[in-house]
Amino acid sequence: MKKIHRKGRIEVITGPMYAGKTEELIRRIRRAQFANEKIVVFKPAVDDRYAESEVVSHDNSRTKSINIVNSIDILNHVDEYTDVVAIDELQFFDDDIVDVVEQLASQNIRVIVSGLDMNFRGDPFHPIPELLSLAEEVDKLTAVCVVCHADATRTQRIVNKRPARYDDPEILVGATESYEARCRHCHSVPGKPKNKLSK
Ligand code: ADP
Ligand code: TMP
Ligand code: MG
Ligand code: ZN
Repeated sequence: MKKIHRKGRIEVITGPMYAGKTEELIRRIRRAQFANEKIVVFKPAVDDRYAESEVVSHDNSRTKSINIVNSIDILNHVDEYTDVVAIDELQFFDDDIVDVVEQLASQNIRVIVSGLDMNFRGDPFHPIPELLSLAEEVDKLTAVCVVCHADATRTQRIVNKRPARYDDPEILVGATESYEARCRHCHSVPGKPKNKLSK
């Protein structure tokens, strides 16, 4: 019987800000380019932080990308020859992104996505948690806690030199002027409802 090579799959790269998610995404993109694979890179239009039509890391690695307003539009940029789709800043896409990623994988495309698993509140950041459960492969990276230098799994938002309050809006595009990598113990969110088991 003829063997069919099915390469459709979902890979998730996640963790807090500064963990190297974008660097790892770019590394996988470059590797696929070396293998002469047809690859399309996307990011949400809302992310205008370092460049408009490039995915850029905090350390200035960069690669060309297509800006997307509605996640469903991603499907218009792929065809039967597309081998790999890479998507950065997944947390900024609308709810359809989960179906879009699933659809691409079922069309035999390797889909590599990267994004935050927690918002500044330390709560799950939709839609990465959904994709973590659907993915074939998950890499949860850590940064360095700026306070104690332990592994950082969380992102601290700073507003006017103070920790942002729990009821601040979830979305605020930014980098070092507004955000720090912190470990669980150094992360603080004034106004966060207490865990019902904590004393
Ligand atoms: P992400 O997309 O996860 O936010 P990037 O891939 O854009 O991360 O950037 C990772 C780079 O950020 C690191 O290689 C390092 O140069 C830089 N960096 C800045 N602050 C930190 C930190 N607190 N911990 C680790 N890396 C940091
Ligand atoms: P990064 O993971 O590539 O560093 O980028 C994360 C982006 O997400 C950055 O623009 C800041 C933004 N962000 C929010 O909008 N809300 C949040 O709660 C957090 C932690 C980050
Ligand atoms: Mg990034
Ligand atoms: Zn710490």
